[in-house]
Amino acid sequence: MKIGIYPGSFDPVTFGHIDIINRSLKIVDKLIVAILINSNKQNLFTFEEREKLLKECFTNDDKVKIKCFTGLLVDFAKENDACCIVRGLRAFTDYDYELMLAQTNKVLYENIDTIFLTTSLKYSYLSSTIVKDVASHDGDISKFVPENVAIALKDKYNKIKRLKTI
Ligand code: PNS
Repeated sequence: MKIGIYPGSFDPVTFGHIDIINRSLKIVDKLIVAILINSNKQNLFTFEEREKLLKECFTNDDKVKIKCFTGLLVDFAKENDACCIVRGLRAFTDYDYELMLAQTNKVLYENIDTIFLTTSLKYSYLSSTIVKDVASHDGDISKFVPENVAIALKDKYNKIKRLKTI
């Protein structure tokens, strides 16, 4: 069985991520969506919150598993017998960083390869960072994220606003 890993921060999951997950399932038999730590990012949602939001998006799909991991991606790949890492490429600007990740992971663990899927055109502009910015200003994010994520983002920013007024 071919097991792939789709790693990321998923803070929060967007339609762009969901598109990559669904298309990856045509390549691998099972996909583990791994919520990992990106030490360059400060997250809005906790690990548990991000896991819950992702699980709600894939309740009926046995081929997709959602897991959190606090260590190195390559260690997670070894533990889960994965043959490949899947990453989405939106634009040329993603390329340098993604190449660096893929090559570092390959040096750390020779048996792992990274497969890049180009993001579908309709989601090529989309990022969790942009979605959070729009949500934080009460903008309409219904075209960017599933309903459960839109609700969670609204709740989160309402809580933050309440805390600021105390
Ligand atoms: O969605 P992101 O933030 O672009 O994903 C980056 C992520 C989480 C995949 C990357 O930071 C990562 O792999 N973190 C785990 C720790 C690790 O393995 N670091 C070395 C990667 S070269």
